[in-house]
Amino acid sequence: MPSSSSSAPSAARPPLPKAELHLHIEGTLEPELAFALAARNGVTLPYATEDELRRAYSFSDLQSFLDLYYALMAVLRTEDDFADLAHAYLARAKEQGVRHAEIFFDPQAHTARGVPLGTVIGGLSRALDAAQETYGITTRLIMCFLRDESAASALETFEAARPYLDRITAVGLDSAEVGHPPSKFREVYALAREAGLKCVAHAGEEGPPAYVWEALDVLGVDRIDHGVRALEDERLVARLVADRIPLTVCPLSNVRLRVIDDLAAHPLPAMLDAGLLVTVNSDDPAYFGGYAHDNFTAVRDALGLDDAALRTLARNSFEASFLDEATRAAYLAEVDAYQGEADAH
Ligand code: ADE
Ligand code: ZN
Repeated sequence: MPSSSSSAPSAARPPLPKAELHLHIEGTLEPELAFALAARNGVTLPYATEDELRRAYSFSDLQSFLDLYYALMAVLRTEDDFADLAHAYLARAKEQGVRHAEIFFDPQAHTARGVPLGTVIGGLSRALDAAQETYGITTRLIMCFLRDESAASALETFEAARPYLDRITAVGLDSAEVGHPPSKFREVYALAREAGLKCVAHAGEEGPPAYVWEALDVLGVDRIDHGVRALEDERLVARLVADRIPLTVCPLSNVRLRVIDDLAAHPLPAMLDAGLLVTVNSDDPAYFGGYAHDNFTAVRDALGLDDAALRTLARNSFEASFLDEATRAAYLAEVDAYQGEADAH
């Protein structure tokens, strides 16, 4: 079931084809599935009903969200749980016009609870391996390090993941940003690059532009996740434009986590005008009121983005992806051939 504030696009007017590049699989855990998994695993949630849980989705900042996000993960225990979670996301993503999804997961949030890494990756892989055939969606997996854990813990996690690196496209960095600069993770990112992985990092969500500089210059990232605060530094914007570094912006998330006061004041149009390779994504859609296409329609309505701007955002999503060139070209051709209004919903 869609969350109350997300509107499923109609089948008659399929939504604009797009790639989702900033999506935490644990952030797709809808209340219905959380309660079903709690029952299956004998876990007691501190909420009596789904509605009571939904009422807790009122956040004052990133940390207030993370507290609930990590608490609800208690229901994810078995390989089937992770596979069911990913299947539920993919079914929704298909409805939203997502043709390609690069999906984050937080291994330390599970191994710290005694869930083996192989259980997490095994369950997610089972769903992702079926994604193309079942949903017509290509996928990649991005393993994130929790930046509020130690650099040693990130290194340990990376070493534990070595047997599974063929299933992982990139490493990422998430969780509480302020006080945990990217440079803390220099060593593990160097190992990831040596192993041939792509690199991304959350930066400039709550943290300052200096964290975006560090993600670029110390970690050597290929993409910045969020990056909305980059606009505070003109030199940084020039660098991001010159190097065509994509920014995976998450508009509904920014409003729910109070990074931005109001969607109508979102810097997305300024980012597009500056020539940044910006994309629109959903972050933790079960918590923030909408999946990929819901974010597109929300920015269209709040910011008055026209058909051409929405098509640019859809094109950017494939340009910014880690797809091979032939598949990227095929998806870009789908965007160009898209018949409906780009803002169909
Ligand atoms: N983990 C899940 N969502 C996140 C976000 N928006 N920022 C940082 N870490 C996260
Ligand atoms: Zn995120």
